[in-house]
Amino acid sequence: MANEDDGLGATPLFAALDPEAAADLRSCMTEVKLARGKALFSEGEPGDRLYVVTDGKIKLGRTAADGRENLLAVLGRGEMFGELSLFDPGPRTATATAVTDSVLLGLGHDELQPWLTGRPEVAGHLLGALARRLRRTNEAMADLVFSDVPGRVAKALLDLAKRFGVRADDGLHVTHDLTQEELAQLVGASRETVNKALADFASRGFIRLEARAVVILDIERLARRAG
Ligand code: CMP
Repeated sequence: MANEDDGLGATPLFAALDPEAAADLRSCMTEVKLARGKALFSEGEPGDRLYVVTDGKIKLGRTAADGRENLLAVLGRGEMFGELSLFDPGPRTATATAVTDSVLLGLGHDELQPWLTGRPEVAGHLLGALARRLRRTNEAMADLVFSDVPGRVAKALLDLAKRFGVRADDGLHVTHDLTQEELAQLVGASRETVNKALADFASRGFIRLEARAVVILDIERLARRAG
């Protein structure tokens, strides 16, 4: 059943459904528990299931021929992935790995099909989610060309804040759970350059650095730096 606890209500897949239909769809899905550091699937494998994160954080990464890694996204509760190889049969376009212990719900092609044909509004919401991702990807691509590393770091922090930020008296706490290396892979720059940008933001009072977390102290100035 889609309720606030499993984060499904916010998922495009469930957005169009009344509670009864949502419970129906939920009953077609299989729960998967993934321990921190474990991969759910790897880039290049065949796949025909999509997943929704109900708890934890999942990173989607790609490895270049020379072994360097790049993170496409870090997803949290209520977010969906794995639908590309389901809608467009072919190999997985990224490796999905648990950043923290995570719980997912998986839905196979055959279980999804009747919902797409029987409930066009479900298909509509999924198309909306794909369109939003394409917008984000285009923006990230433009940033790689036009923005400097500090600007991209500021953007990545604001994006993580949207997903994982929790407001407190002293600022917006963003427990991203990423290592410095992973943060650099998300920004698409070297660890040294990303660390330098973070240290600069901290010295200006935009953020406070903590282990696998940042506290955003001045969101306006950080947003101005993001451009
Ligand atoms: P699939 O190719 O089946 O497996 C990897 C998944 O990563 C893919 O489906 C998408 O759900 C997700 N994905 C691929 N590219 C991006 C991107 N640029 N931004 C966010 N998620 C992505």
